[in-house]
Amino acid sequence: MAEHYLIDEFHPRLEPVLRELYDNHKERAAKIDWSYHDFIPWEKGRSFKTEPWDISQRTLSDGLYTAVETALLTEVNLPWFTTHLAVTFKKSISVLTEFVHTWTAEEDQHSSLLETYLIITRNANPTELKQIRKFVVEQGYEPDLENALETMVYTAIQELATMVFYNNVAKIATDHDPDLAALLRRLSKDESLHFAFYRDACREYLGVDHNFIYYIEKVMTNFRMPGVQMPNFDERMSTASKEANYGPVAYFRQVYEYLINYWGVKDLQPSRPEAQEAKIRLLTHYDKMKRITERLAAKGSS
Ligand SMILES: [Fe+2]
Ligand SMILES: [Fe+2]
Repeated sequence: MAEHYLIDEFHPRLEPVLRELYDNHKERAAKIDWSYHDFIPWEKGRSFKTEPWDISQRTLSDGLYTAVETALLTEVNLPWFTTHLAVTFKKSISVLTEFVHTWTAEEDQHSSLLETYLIITRNANPTELKQIRKFVVEQGYEPDLENALETMVYTAIQELATMVFYNNVAKIATDHDPDLAALLRRLSKDESLHFAFYRDACREYLGVDHNFIYYIEKVMTNFRMPGVQMPNFDERMSTASKEANYGPVAYFRQVYEYLINYWGVKDLQPSRPEAQEAKIRLLTHYDKMKRITERLAAKGSS
C-alpha cells in the first residue's frame, strides 16, 4: 500500500536525533521536578462525614469549574494514552519507548493534582466526580492512528493545546483563585516540555524526508481532542470558549497555525505525488480555518 511504502522510520539519522531530544527532555524535566502535594491548599480540607458536600460550597464560577473538570477528565485517561503510545512506538525507534516511560511518570500526577484540588476546595461533588471519572476511564481511548509519526503529530497538537488551555484558564483564575492559577501554570510547564519533544521529533522526521507531510496532513485535518467521548463534551468546549479564555480562535492561532509555521509546511517539497497532494490539502484546510477564525475573532470569540 502506498502509505506504508512512504515510511522509512528506521532512517539512520532519526535514532540519534531522537535520542538527543530525549536526553534534553530529561535534563530540562529534572530542573523543574515537582510534587503535586506542594500545590494543594490542604488547609482548606474538612471531613465530608461531618460536613457533607453541597453546591453552595463551590467557589469557582461555572466556566472555571467546567474548564478544570474537563481538564481532569482528559488527564484521567492516561492509562489509555500510555497503552496507545506504547503499542504504536513498540514497532518504531526504540528510544520512543523509553520516552513513553518518562512521559507517563510525569503525566501521572496531573490528574491527582486536579482531582485533589477540586475535592479539597469543595468545588467538586466528590461522589458525582468519582462516577463521571469512572465512566470516562471505562470508555477509554483508542485513536485511529497507525504509526509512530501519526501518533506524535497527534500528541504534539494535544500537548500544545493542553499547555495553551492551562495558561489561558490560569489567566482567568488569577484574580478569583491564585492557588488554582499557580497549579495550572505548573501543569502547563510539564505540557510545554512534552510538547517540545513531540514537536521537534516530527520536525526531525520532516528533515529526513519531506514526504512525511503525508502523515502530518492526515492528523492535522482530522484533529479532535481526546475528550470527545466524555459527557457533554461540546457544551464543555463552548463554556470554556465563552468563560475560560480558550476556544477555536485560541486553538487556531496558538496551536494549529503555530505548528504549520514551525514545521515549515509551506516550504516543504515532497517528491511523491501522495505527499504533494497531502501538502495541498493541508494548506487548503489551513486557509479555510484561517477564514473561519477571522470571522469568529471579529465577533469577539476566544
Ligand atoms: Fe497532562
Ligand atoms: Fe503532557
